[in-house]
Amino acid sequence: MPASPTIHRTVDDLRAAVSAWRREGLRVGMVPTMGALHSGHMELVRAARERADRIIVTIFVNPTQFAPTEDFGAYPRTEASDVAKLAELGVEAVFAPNANEMYPAGYATTVSLAGPAIGLETDFRPHFFSGVATVVSKLLIAGFPDVAMFGEKDYQQLMVVRQMVRDLRLPTEIIGLPTIREADGLALSSRNAYLSPEERQTATTISRAMRQAAELVRAGGSVEAALAEGRAALTEAGFRVDYLVLRNAETLAELANPAIEPRRMLAAAWLGKTRLIDNIAV
Ligand code: PAF
Repeated sequence: MPASPTIHRTVDDLRAAVSAWRREGLRVGMVPTMGALHSGHMELVRAARERADRIIVTIFVNPTQFAPTEDFGAYPRTEASDVAKLAELGVEAVFAPNANEMYPAGYATTVSLAGPAIGLETDFRPHFFSGVATVVSKLLIAGFPDVAMFGEKDYQQLMVVRQMVRDLRLPTEIIGLPTIREADGLALSSRNAYLSPEERQTATTISRAMRQAAELVRAGGSVEAALAEGRAALTEAGFRVDYLVLRNAETLAELANPAIEPRRMLAAAWLGKTRLIDNIAV
């Protein structure tokens, strides 16, 4: 049977483990998660293993990135099965603090953002990136990993984290890994568990609509017409679209010259009570 990872509940405890590894000259990798681990997370762990000798997976459902109306209470919490999956991959450490450890009573410090955090998700979830950036900075400062892994599925999050790490001069290399998809194209997400069987079938429309819109753009068609077609396909399938846009892949700013800039298509849309996000390179 594979050895279980050591579970650390406090920052001090994690730091003691990391200091011991550092004294041995080992490289440390971190995979920040909110648990409910799926094969996308497992790919992040495998990729961390290629770059580090010791791996910390953090499991923390971060309250500050949820608005009061969102699914913080309902978010799946599956620590025992998450830890069993991580044992299979030989992960050495899990950092699973409680909310008080990350946000001690009376805490008054958060990270504020601009640049890639402006627009898109922020237009619909204004609290979100400040919560993400605050917790990710705390996790990186708790473990000071050499590398940390993030999925491209949350593309804007990845850009925000990269910018933050650059701006705060944190000594961690941020690695973004391609989105893992089901065979029918649906991007893996812990929130897919909320979909009814019928919604699960319809959910494939999001990646299909994006692929079709991307093909039209690549073929030299009008960007606005391609996006309008994509939005219409989603609405017709029963989605309520928050956004389907084409942006500069590095800055996430609106495209000044779509013909020569690196391009990323990003979408967020509701299917019933579930909000799905996805993105592709164009
Ligand atoms: O992508 C996630 O799972 C979360 O936003 C993260 C990066 C673990 C921060 O809570």
